[in-house]
Formats: sequence, structure tokens, C-alpha cells
Amino acid sequence: MCGIFGYKGRRNASPIVIEGLKKLDYRGYDSWGIGIAHEDVIHIKKDAGRIEVSREMPDLEKLPGTAGIAHTRWATHGHVTKENANPHSSNNGKIAVVHNGIIENFQEQKQFLAGQGFKFYSETDTETIPNTIEYHMRRGYDFIEAAKRSLKHLEGQYAILALDSEGKIVAVRKEAPLVVGVGKDEYFLASDVTAFIDHTKDVIFLEENDMVIIDGGLKIFNLDKNAFVKRPVSKIDWDAEQAKKGNFDHFYLKEIMEQAEVIERISNTDQKIIKEIAGEIRKAKGVYIVACGTASYASMYGLYLFSKIAKTHVNSCVASEFQYFKHFLNSKSLVIAVSQSGETADTLSAIRAAKSMGAKVVSITNVNGSSLMRESDKSILQKAGPEIAVNSTKAYTSQLAILGLLAYELSGKLGEGTEELKELSREIYYLTSENARKFVKELAEKLKDKEHIYLIGRGPQYPTALEAAHKIKEVSYIHAEAFAGGELKHGPNALITKGTPYIVFSSGETEKETINSAMEVKARGAFVVGVGPKNNEVFDFFIKVRDAGDFNSIVQIIPMQILSYQLALLRGCDPDRPRNLAKSVTVK
Ligand code: AGP
Repeated sequence: MCGIFGYKGRRNASPIVIEGLKKLDYRGYDSWGIGIAHEDVIHIKKDAGRIEVSREMPDLEKLPGTAGIAHTRWATHGHVTKENANPHSSNNGKIAVVHNGIIENFQEQKQFLAGQGFKFYSETDTETIPNTIEYHMRRGYDFIEAAKRSLKHLEGQYAILALDSEGKIVAVRKEAPLVVGVGKDEYFLASDVTAFIDHTKDVIFLEENDMVIIDGGLKIFNLDKNAFVKRPVSKIDWDAEQAKKGNFDHFYLKEIMEQAEVIERISNTDQKIIKEIAGEIRKAKGVYIVACGTASYASMYGLYLFSKIAKTHVNSCVASEFQYFKHFLNSKSLVIAVSQSGETADTLSAIRAAKSMGAKVVSITNVNGSSLMRESDKSILQKAGPEIAVNSTKAYTSQLAILGLLAYELSGKLGEGTEELKELSREIYYLTSENARKFVKELAEKLKDKEHIYLIGRGPQYPTALEAAHKIKEVSYIHAEAFAGGELKHGPNALITKGTPYIVFSSGETEKETINSAMEVKARGAFVVGVGPKNNEVFDFFIKVRDAGDFNSIVQIIPMQILSYQLALLRGCDPDRPRNLAKSVTVK
């Protein structure tokens, strides 16, 4: 996880790296740190907590020097302390490193270096990196050659920026995100483009084991090929404003509000790629969707749509479990990976496992140039725009929309699907309006002190319930759990006590049976909330959303996103940065 940022150019580095870091702190916010090289010294400032609230802020921007690196951490090795915060320096203080990922052989490496007289001041795996570089420099290699040699010893997945005291930067990506921004006589390195989009839209997407060397100009050396390589410069097609909060208090709310636009954009999406990927699904013998978290609930919804609209059998599996099912894959299998970031380590491992069995891989992702996109045979871009809040909202609904379009195309009715989406975007404007938000806030007031919230759905509404529970727990820390309506009698009914809230998604063909489930829990004292097109006497509180047919999950999840946002505010939680989570989970 974590965000890393680097700058080398003609301007003072510290204000640029600090600003970049603030934009990346959604990726991890346990601690922060910056390192700036000036007159053969690397000045390091770091602390536990978020950079936004750093006590050292006033001095930070004044650090002189035109080359710097920065880090915002999501701890994997070592407690959340100032000592464990990145950057970490080598023993002679001439090299500083920021690191995203895990060095798997750090214990052996640490032991080896300790045997050579190196001292360690943190509990992290990261600290072995600058010291391995120093070790090679002690043997006579210059910084760049020493970094190259060091990287050969370091196992794991990582993106690393190393800065020497003269201001040279070496960066490498291996199964973790890192992009290069190319400005006028200046270069930026970051975990994602949002961090430097204010400065440049010219971006180089790196390949695995590319090592970037910035020493005056920029060169890329590929460690696998053992040769310098050329990588094209691409233009980013969204603008800086999209990655800013604007007048909103939180990115979470802003992104909830953007969904009408996003769905409309998808209704106008390039049909060629939808047709191509539907063609792959048609050809395949065995189709599996893999994804994590919210994307996995979108994928599960996809199964219902493929079955109902396209009469096509598709399997889905959370990506972290997929490797245990890979044995029956072969060259005719198709794996569809769904991932907002395109950098989730579990999802990437799943597609690598699939490829090792000869399967074809296509992906649905929101990030152009992401590892997932580059490693897939074909990709559809979600076009949801940058999603900054850790809790996924517009990425989820855009994934539903795309999976729906694929199902419609498979049944030969793509036009019908795009029309439905167009209609829907109008409904979403209403669902996110101030009045609608106020109404949902009334429900949040009733639920804010509850210990548990249960959610029920059947058929396509089951993944909707799962995703709604996911939203509530992530952002308000209330225990929320979803069940398939039919399962209540097989166990969960034991949980009902007087006043326990049950949120019930009732619509379409599952409506009657879902109402039966609602009756069951109501009879045992539950407080029943209905979400759907039709009110019913069983509901103690009712949120009306129109019947959106196959896209019901899109209209039903939006009030739940708003509910989770309101619950977070009422309970004093930060809706953009839930505890213990990070946006992009780039470790397994
Ligand atoms: C979403 O609210 C979550 N924070 C999380 O479950 C997320 O969906 C998951 O980590 C997958 O991320 P991805 O879509 O970037 O692969």
C-alpha cells in the first residue's frame, strides 16, 4: 500500500513533494516523511500520523534542494512510530529510500548486513534497502550501479525510490505501482498520476523491473533485459480538478454525487471493446471473474446478470482464493479481473496464476496504464474518473454498468442496455439530491447507536446487500452483515432481538420472497427498513427507489452509500480515510 512521491528538476523540491504526498495520503496514513538532498546532505523529516496534521509543517516547505522523495505509510513491518516512518537512510546518511511493498527476504538481508557492521534503527524491512546500496558502494560501485546490484538481492513486491546526497534518484517498480511524470526540465515519480497531475499530464507507464535513473536527464534500464529501454510518453485524458474535493467536505460525498455523470458516460462508451470482450466470453470454455472487496460484489452481481440476460454461466471468486481453484484452467478458459485501481496484489496474483495455466485474461479497471491493464490481453476502462475516497462508490456502480452491458451484448441487445443506463442516470441525479440525502439522514439518526445492522437480499439483491454492509462497516465501524434472504431460517434468525435493524432490498422477481423474509424478522421484533420501488406495511422506514430492472443494484446501493456517509459523520469517523484501511492494497 502506501504512497510514494519523488521530484527532481529546476524548482525547490520540498513544497512539491509535500503537496504530492498530501494527494497520496488516501493510500496509507500511518506516518509520513520526506527527504530532500542539498549540498551533499539528505535532510529527513518524518513523523507518525498524517502529513495534514504534522507539527513540523511550517518548516517543511523551506527545506532547500531540488531533488526529494516522500512517503505516506500503511505499515506492514514494524509498528506505527516515527522511527519506522519512511524515508530510511543508509548508515552513512548518503542514501535515503522510500518504499511501497514488502522485501520478503529482509531478515536474511538484515542479518548479512549486520554481520558487515551495519546498524539498524527501525523494525522495518525498508531499512535494508539503503544499507544494501551503501554496502555495494563501499565495494567501489557508484550509486547507480550499487542500486542495480542491490535490487538483484531484494525479493518481494515493491516500488522503491532511492535518493543520494547529490540529488540523483533511482526508482524501480516490481509488482507495485509507480508512474513517471515528465515536465519541462523536471521529473515526477509517484504511486499514481493524481499526485502530479497539477504539474504535467505527460506520463510514462513503467514495465516490470524497469529502473528509472534521474541524473540530469531520465533513462530507463530494465533489470530483466539488462539493457536500457525506451518507454512511450502517454497523455492523461482527465484533468486536475477531477482529483480535487472542490466544494465538497469529503471525497466520499463528491464521488457519490458523481455517479449520475459516470453512468451516463458509460452509456456512451465505445461499443467496440464491449463487443470484443463479449466475443471472448462467447468463445471461452469456462469463464471466471476474480476481484476483491467491493469489486468482488460487483462481480457477483455480474453472475446474476450473465445468467438472466445472457443465459451464460460464469463463475466468480474472490481473488485471494482463486489460486486454489486454478487447477482446472486451460488455454480455453477466460478470466475476467475487475479492479478499480488495477494494482490490487491479490487480483494481480490471481491473473498471473491464470496465465500460468494458459488462460486468457481480460480486465475491467478504472486506471489506464495500471499493472492489471498492462498484464491483461484486453481491457475495458471504467471511465469513472479518479476515485480518491478509500471507500469505493462510483467505481462500483461503473463496474455494475459495464458488466450489465457485457451481458446485454451477449444476448444481442446492447442498445437496450445502453438505453436503460441513460434513463438511470436521471434517476441517480434525484437519488443524490439534497432532499434525498436529508431523508436518508433521518434513517442514519435512528441507526447511529446500533451495534449491529443486518441486510437482506435475494437474487441480484444479495450482492447489493453484501456491498451495502461492506460500505457501512468500512466507514462507520458498525458491525453490518448481509444474508441471502433464504438463509435467515438456517441460522441468522438467532441474532434477532427487539429493535435489531434489518435493511431489506425488495424489487422485481424477488420482491415477494424478500417481503416474506422481512415478515419473519419483523415477527421477532426487528426494525425493518425497506429499499425498493414499493412500500409495504412490514417496513418501519422506507426508501423509495424506482424499479431499474437489471440495474437495480445501482439505484439501491446509492441510498446505502449515503447512509454510510451520514453514519460516519454522526459517529465522528473520517469518511475518506477509515481506520486500518488503504485505497490500494498492493500487498498480499
Ligand atoms: C472498497 O470500498 C474497498 N475499500 C475495497 O474493498 C476495494 O474495493 C478492494 O480493495 C478492491 O480494490 P480494487 O477495486 O482497486 O482492486
